[in-house]
Amino acid sequence: MFTFSESSEKQIEKIMKKYPVKRSAILPLLALAQRQDGYITPEAMVEIGKRIDCSPAYVQSVCSFYTMFYTKPVGKYVIQFCINISCHLLGCDDLLEYTANKLNIKVGETTADNKITLLKEECLAECSAAPVMRLNDTYHTNLTREKIDQILDSLD
Ligand code: FES
Repeated sequence: MFTFSESSEKQIEKIMKKYPVKRSAILPLLALAQRQDGYITPEAMVEIGKRIDCSPAYVQSVCSFYTMFYTKPVGKYVIQFCINISCHLLGCDDLLEYTANKLNIKVGETTADNKITLLKEECLAECSAAPVMRLNDTYHTNLTREKIDQILDSLD
């Protein structure tokens, strides 16, 4: 069973006041559920559906459309590597493989200590600074192997 925490409930109250059409609050509610548990469980989708008068299937369909929502557990840090054209032309494939080897995981996997999840992503809309990756909510641009080393070493 999923329940929103007390502090999430306070935020939901504020969120719902902003949206005269309840279903329009779906993205902030999904973000809130993910912030609370790290990913969005089927039970959370049911609860969100109740809050916005939509079916769990509708919530799931929206959730699965956006790659920033996770439907299974992820690491404390999630690295999303852009693999689209600008990043591709500037070597993202090599950097992604380099990162996967360094973490000793495959793309789509999480390290054994549950610290880092490595994912592929479509264009992150920062093409002029390719290659690009998002690390949780932070973008890292003009990536090189050296930069990746520094970024990974900085994670606690
Ligand atoms: S192609 Fe990588 S950010 Fe756009």
